[in-house]
Amino acid sequence: MRQRIIAGNWKMNKTIPEAIELAKGVVEATKGTAAEVVVCPTFVCLAAVNEVVKGTHVALGAQDVHWEKSGAFTGKVSSDMLLSAGVKYVIIGHSEQRTYFHETNETVNKKVKAALAAGLLPIICVGETLAEREAGRTNAVVEDHVVGAYAGLSVADAMKTVIAYEPVWAIGTGKVATPDQAQDVHAFIRGGLLQRLYGADVAAALRVQYGGSMKADNAKELLAKADIDGGLIGGASLKASDFAGIVNA
Ligand code: 13P
Repeated sequence: MRQRIIAGNWKMNKTIPEAIELAKGVVEATKGTAAEVVVCPTFVCLAAVNEVVKGTHVALGAQDVHWEKSGAFTGKVSSDMLLSAGVKYVIIGHSEQRTYFHETNETVNKKVKAALAAGLLPIICVGETLAEREAGRTNAVVEDHVVGAYAGLSVADAMKTVIAYEPVWAIGTGKVATPDQAQDVHAFIRGGLLQRLYGADVAAALRVQYGGSMKADNAKELLAKADIDGGLIGGASLKASDFAGIVNA
């Protein structure tokens, strides 16, 4: 049985006081859930949010990481720094990173390896654009992202990862993938790709989240699908009551 994992990607939102308040709300509103709950604030808010969530059922995540341990990389943050701030999960390869900040399969792979080596658990984002879907290239793009991200990763390391399938056309647009559309890709990731790369046991154990305009009122249907193990939530993670609506679904 795969434990559900619902993660809030706060993106570039919330000042430190606002992040503290939101984190307190999330802890309160999701008490008693059987799902794993993760909040991913900006780097600058991590330490403050950690003070709120540590010792609770809510885990802390970051939104990106650099692959080097330290050095002259202005603006970047390393895995060890994240660990020292109380971080457990780190989102890697988000489509906004790929689109705006030159993220490639190669940099995703380097980040995944560095994060794992330091003891962080990567949430690896994959997904196609609208043009790619309309060209019938959804599976090819997802395969390229998954194969690239996992290149050279052992079974033991792969077991520590989570995949987030986020169709780019559904992110922040209000256009959610239908449960069947999402399930098709999740089944391909698990039954096609992970099974081929790592075998049936790993494929059955790894969690694959859906992300893209997930909200309290569509979460139940999506999460009812056999291969959808949770959500990576953007907009609806910015209010504790909205986010808790998804967790409680
Ligand atoms: P939205 O939930 O705002 O569509 O964002 C999804 C996402 O990108 C989560 O990483």
